[in-house]
Amino acid sequence: MSIFESIPRENLLVTETISISTSVNGTEHALDVEPRTLLVHLLRDELGLTGTHIGCETGQCGACTVQLNGAAVKSCMVLAAQADRQEITTIEGVAAQGSLHPIQQAFWEEHGIQCGYCTPGVIMSSLSLIASNPDPSEDDIRHALEGNICRCTGYHNIVIAVREAAARIARGDRPQSIR
Ligand code: FES
Ligand code: FES
Repeated sequence: MSIFESIPRENLLVTETISISTSVNGTEHALDVEPRTLLVHLLRDELGLTGTHIGCETGQCGACTVQLNGAAVKSCMVLAAQADRQEITTIEGVAAQGSLHPIQQAFWEEHGIQCGYCTPGVIMSSLSLIASNPDPSEDDIRHALEGNICRCTGYHNIVIAVREAAARIARGDRPQSIR
């Protein structure tokens, strides 16, 4: 028996790829991914969608939050293979290039941003919250954003911005051009 035959198969370096088909921001992609590839790496490294940030890579910080079929998920906790036949939305997908979605406008105007590193993840979590709860209270917002760590703002203006975003979305505000 060779040395390799004595090693459990699950301990061998996996080099096979898996073919997946996934919709990202409304565009269909057919991709070959390694079984170990994380969704965040697929988005950033294969598709160039670097608006999804990487912080901890252990599910703690929320910087990598995207939507999977409308639900906020931490993309460092999802395998790329799990995106097969699913719909992914990233921060690049919330408004057309050169426009700001009402929630982005609200974060800008209410100073819900300082360095901005957490902001894409916070916005994706907030959009999932507003989709299920169009008029969230401060407690609702703070609870929904428990998994999104911000080292800068102290969260106060983020909560104000999400409240304002919910109001703008409820009244039907549309993305605005920034040009
Ligand atoms: S990078 Fe995914 S939760 Fe921190
Ligand atoms: S604005 Fe800097 S981490 Fe949130």
